[in-house]
Amino acid sequence: MTDRTVCTTRPLRSDDAAVSAAMTFPAYRHLLSLEPAPRLPDEPEQRVVQAVGVLACDGDRPVGLALAEIPATPGEGSAELLSLFVAPDHRRQGIGSALVEAIETELRIRGFVAVDATYTTGKPSIEAVERIFSRRGWDAPVLRTVSVKFTLREAVSTPWYGRVHLPKGAELFPWRDLTAAERARIRESNDQSPWIPNSLQPWRHDVKGFDPVSSLGLRYRGEVVGWMINHQMGPGAVRFTCSFMRKDLSRRARILPLYSEAIRRLFVAGFEYGTFVTPTVYPEMVDFIRQHIAPYVSFTGETRGTRKFLVQG
Ligand SMILES: CC(C)(COP(=O)(O)OP(=O)(O)OC[C@H]1O[C@@H](n2cnc3c(N)ncnc32)[C@H](O)[C@@H]1OP(=O)(O)O)[C@@H](O)C(=O)NCCC(=O)NCCS
Repeated sequence: MTDRTVCTTRPLRSDDAAVSAAMTFPAYRHLLSLEPAPRLPDEPEQRVVQAVGVLACDGDRPVGLALAEIPATPGEGSAELLSLFVAPDHRRQGIGSALVEAIETELRIRGFVAVDATYTTGKPSIEAVERIFSRRGWDAPVLRTVSVKFTLREAVSTPWYGRVHLPKGAELFPWRDLTAAERARIRESNDQSPWIPNSLQPWRHDVKGFDPVSSLGLRYRGEVVGWMINHQMGPGAVRFTCSFMRKDLSRRARILPLYSEAIRRLFVAGFEYGTFVTPTVYPEMVDFIRQHIAPYVSFTGETRGTRKFLVQG
């Protein structure tokens, strides 16, 4: 076993980028240059952030990394712990705890009064992560999102697939066929009298492209009143990113035909996997996942969030 006393922590430097890359998620590796950068460059409307990190070293060998982000412009957002990793042969020696303590200190020095963290359950290390947070005085974790991953074969075997029908007078169309006039009309009508929650506004999700196979719009009596905008997440996989139907039409599972049609198109086109994540601020969607999707799919997970106040009193 490695002697724990030889391990030390120090602030991450930009020349550590290569050695630390394998110790964080691919989506955050571009931040290791420690330069201001969009948080997730492939996603729309990403804020510009800067990484702060702490490296654990056994002699010269980097064996652990805590990576956090802070807003690139002071005051425009909060600090968030993005990832925590310790090399398997160095685990259970207190290094993870030391990294979290050190990153808290780095953020406090920079004037942050709190730090947030969001993590996905279902992995073997989550018990250790939650233990570290709890021992270091972070808040009790709160459920933030529910997610599922499924094969399209699983999706077409759900009892609701193809069973619920559109309201009379409604028709589905490929989102790529949305006309400029229709797009403008959605925006104008929402500006005049808001009917679309901010996070489900279609222009937030299609601005950097969308999956043309499964992204759909819904017209009702000539007006565009719903959409499902999805994104490819690697070969054969699609994320169901945003789905919405005008409130007066969306009762009683009326959104299901959009899912059915998107799944049918993906299945026919030879896609293999779908993923679906919904924040708990949409309780109807969480219920939909729990009741209509989770029982039939291969993976159901949650993200949980926690926060620590770094300044007492
Ligand atoms: C999570 C992780 C960083 C913990 O690192 P670590 O150096 O082993 O953590 P520590 O030694 O400080 O252990 C912290 C606590 O968790 C406990 N613990 C460690 N591994 C555990 C495990 N597999 N199951 C249950 N408890 C565990 C320790 O006993 C310790 O508890 P204690 O303070 O009561 O003694 C490490 O397991 C890891 O890198 N996992 C893979 C990456 C990951 O999933 N990161 C989290 C999401 S980003």
